[in-house]
Amino acid sequence: MKALVAGSTGETGRRIVEELIKRDIPVRTFVRDITKAQEILPPSVEIVPGDVLKPETISAAMEGCTVVLCATGARPSFDPTGPYQVDFVGTKNLVDTAKAKGIEHFVLVSSMCVSQFFHPLNLFWLILFWKKQAEEYLQKSGLTYTIVRPGGLKNEDNSDAIIMKAADSLFEGSIPRQKVAQVCVEALHIPASRNKIVEVITQPDSTNQPIAELFANV
Ligand SMILES: NC(=O)c1ccc[n+]([C@@H]2O[C@H](COP(=O)([O-])OP(=O)(O)OC[C@H]3O[C@@H](n4cnc5c(N)ncnc54)[C@H](OP(=O)(O)O)[C@@H]3O)[C@@H](O)[C@H]2O)c1
Repeated sequence: MKALVAGSTGETGRRIVEELIKRDIPVRTFVRDITKAQEILPPSVEIVPGDVLKPETISAAMEGCTVVLCATGARPSFDPTGPYQVDFVGTKNLVDTAKAKGIEHFVLVSSMCVSQFFHPLNLFWLILFWKKQAEEYLQKSGLTYTIVRPGGLKNEDNSDAIIMKAADSLFEGSIPRQKVAQVCVEALHIPASRNKIVEVITQPDSTNQPIAELFANV
């Protein structure tokens, strides 16, 4: 297995890289800014320059990889096309290349509430709407996929239990980015994660369960 991580300079993406390294999975990171990546990512990690909006760079980066994890996301900005470009077109470009390259598993970090058009987060240039379009594109692509929809993301990890539910079951809650990264990386080894959309948050008063069991129960 060799993983390509898109969005690896992001707060979740860098944790996905960490979790891959912990499991000895070879990883290549796909980044827009090499200098920034060198500051953020472990020195041993392979860094390839590119942009999800430039398909030719994706194709070169995916060469030799067998799985893809995508944790890209439009940065808040005044550009009304940001989420359309990054969260839809960018992901679509990754999916198209993954299909052409015979990628075995595509893990996408999406978001809780993507099915709610009237959600306040859609005031940020329809970000949830465009994430949902990307999810649907991936689902229809024929690739083996796992779509992970986290609640509000937190940088601080904690020992709370992960709650995992089927699509459109959770509407509030948060989760540490480290746990989202663990779910994404574990999914690569768990047959029950294949072709599923899961929503994840954490709760302090619940019992911790292995991630494989969580996937099996969705
Ligand atoms: N914030 C929340 O509470 C929340 C809740 C649920 C879901 N989500 C979603 O979860 C995902 C991860 O969130 P996060 O806050 O960890 O992400 P983040 O820190 O904002 O990182 C976003 C990543 O996307 C990359 N990116 C943006 N445009 C790109 C492009 N054109 N080509 C290649 N890479 C590009 C950024 O690269 P640069 O470093 O070069 O900018 C960065 O690595 C996002 O999809 C987000 O929408 C967030």
